[in-house]
Amino acid sequence: MDIIVTETLDELGTAAADLVLAQVRAKPSTVLGVATGSSPLPVYEHLARAEADFRGVTCFALDEYVGLPAEHEQSYAHFVRHKISAPLGIRPENTHVPRSEDGYGASACDHYEDLIRRAGGIDLQILGIGRNGHLAFNEPGSRFDSRTRIIQLTQDSRKANARFFPSIEDVPTHAITQGLGTIQEARHLLVVVSGEAKAAAVRRAVDGPVTKDMPASILQRHPNVSMVLDEAAASLLSRSHAL
Ligand code: GLP
Repeated sequence: MDIIVTETLDELGTAAADLVLAQVRAKPSTVLGVATGSSPLPVYEHLARAEADFRGVTCFALDEYVGLPAEHEQSYAHFVRHKISAPLGIRPENTHVPRSEDGYGASACDHYEDLIRRAGGIDLQILGIGRNGHLAFNEPGSRFDSRTRIIQLTQDSRKANARFFPSIEDVPTHAITQGLGTIQEARHLLVVVSGEAKAAAVRRAVDGPVTKDMPASILQRHPNVSMVLDEAAASLLSRSHAL
């Protein structure tokens, strides 16, 4: 695992964006996995300003709430369209978000797995870590070989995301998420985490035992992980990592 610790969020954005840009320049038809959340925002901002051509890129989102229309401001479809695809210039027809409402019914999860497979798999997957250690919406207890599926959100995740909704009751109870097995198949994982609230989860992910109780600990089993952290998120790591 390659760990980069940056002093500012701006540097975090540049460091992670540089890895994405290297990938897209080497392969203009890159299949890019994208994450929502606050941590990767500086990365997308840097990418939008970079001189790079994303017209050949296909992107796949990690997850989505169940029950929100795609136009809803808090849907991940909305986030991906407004914060990623449109500013970077990724074509709408190459932008994919797993949605359980878009006419595929019970087969929506298999359909999403199929789309990823047919695109040739994900070259570079951007990821955040939830404060309870979730990757995408794979909550603690998720199987390491899990695939895209609908999952019930923990109260902790709903609480963490309540800041985006009028009240916690408005936060959806379920989400559709790529599984940990799906995520592990991406060829390169780029984990971007900021803020003190994530420091304990980062430490357990990097240094703790590999266990289903800490989904992000599965990162230790992936051969090609780059982690970009700000100092606050890295603050509980042992010094040898933080150099
Ligand atoms: C949500 C998303 C995750 C994301 C996490 C962390 O729960 N489903 O994919 O990694 O938030 O987001 P943030 O970076 O805002 O803390």
